[in-house]
Amino acid sequence: MSGTELRHASTVDGVLFTAVVGVPSVVQGLFTKREKPTRLAGLVGGDQHTFRTVRGLVNKYGPEPFFIRMATDEVVLAHHPDDIKFVLEGSPDPFASDFGSKRKGMVAFQPEALTLSRMPVWEQRRRFAEAILDTGKPLHRLAEPMLAAAKEEANHILDLSQQRKVKWSDINEAFQRLTRIVVFGKSAADDTAITAALKDLMGQANNTPGKTSDDYPAFIKRVQHYLDRAESGSLAGLIADTAVDGVDPAGQVVHWLFAMGDTLAANVTRALALLATHPDQRAKAVSEVQVCDLDSPAAVASLSYLSGCLLEAMRLYPTTGLFGRVAIRDVMLPSGKVIPEGTQVLIPNMFAHRNADIVSYADRFAPEEWASGDAGSNWSFNFFSHGPQGCPGAGMAIFLGTAFLAQVLNSATPKVSGTTAKAGRKLPYGMDLYPLEFEFV
Ligand code: HEM
Repeated sequence: MSGTELRHASTVDGVLFTAVVGVPSVVQGLFTKREKPTRLAGLVGGDQHTFRTVRGLVNKYGPEPFFIRMATDEVVLAHHPDDIKFVLEGSPDPFASDFGSKRKGMVAFQPEALTLSRMPVWEQRRRFAEAILDTGKPLHRLAEPMLAAAKEEANHILDLSQQRKVKWSDINEAFQRLTRIVVFGKSAADDTAITAALKDLMGQANNTPGKTSDDYPAFIKRVQHYLDRAESGSLAGLIADTAVDGVDPAGQVVHWLFAMGDTLAANVTRALALLATHPDQRAKAVSEVQVCDLDSPAAVASLSYLSGCLLEAMRLYPTTGLFGRVAIRDVMLPSGKVIPEGTQVLIPNMFAHRNADIVSYADRFAPEEWASGDAGSNWSFNFFSHGPQGCPGAGMAIFLGTAFLAQVLNSATPKVSGTTAKAGRKLPYGMDLYPLEFEFV
């Protein structure tokens, strides 16, 4: 394809980028976080260093995408919302999402994952996911049992806080239980072994083995056991009535388990910490919750300020700090520049979400931008990704997280230690989950 080439960052900048952005994400764990390195990164201000490094590179080479060395590959960094939009609107073809280390890792625990699929298989698997997850619908068919399960877990956390301070691991366990109930049904509520087995597989993925784990068949048999039970009121029950040609449901459910468990739990925990440290925003959220019928799924789904608090936590501290695509053929950008076939394109959420040149509220907690502003249509924010391959579980995740937060705020005021986040101050670039301790008074 004829066209001009994008700029190339210098070798020295490539070494810096690899050291500051690439290596720490590998050391902290690509698929499940390792506690010690993550804590250490929090202590030494690793996130701030990462942001500043990308900021410096963008000032030097931006605003267009540019080539930069990441370990042994030359990748393209796309950080401007127009370029991000171009890439994500073109996923999964010509920009596939199964690039290098992601495939090599994820294949260990979810070889049939939608996010690792290309056309035409992607289309079939995507149809299955959207059919079960009710993607894009204002309310999921099972919103009522989901709400009940979220309330139960919130009450469990409130009860626990009567005895001792609540930690990230407590909230994570509550969301893992919620996940098992939503996906498999009440019979799986206490099957912590299936969650532990998935965590173990994800730990193996951190080493990017490039092949499916020997433990995967035993794990998928456990998943299949619950799908066969097809408990009514759970996603497994819906799956039993929804066949999509060529799709094996068990292989698809694996992604849902960790995204609803680990990922959602992390975002809800950070939202609680932000609410605890921001009295004005908390007062607004509480006044919204107090006039809401918390037994009504539709009323909970309409808590736009509170869900804005959760979305802000995700913008400020994206659980997917960096994600990528790979060009499956030469692609010409609207500028006439060409991304050659086989090139990885990286989207740095940890920079784009906080780029003060584009986001006026970059470093403060601004739920109102989601409730009544235009944050929802801003392609800079990709904690759920965007476009045809955007997260199909986003609506469900926000509903469950909002339901949990609403129940907590309706009963108690959160207090937190272990974070430097403070109202009226520029928010730090990272919020390590491990040191957080909550009280609900
Ligand atoms: C707060 C929670 C969640 C966050 C932050 C999140 C984030 C994301 C992101 C960033 C992607 C794009 C990944 C990429 O292209 O590299 C994605 C894709 C995906 N998510 Fe989520 N997600 C969440 C919850 C969920 C839930 C609850 C489900 C299912 C029940 C889910 C299912 C999926 C699936 C199947 C994909 C792959 C889509 C495709 O490739 O077409 N996610 N998610």
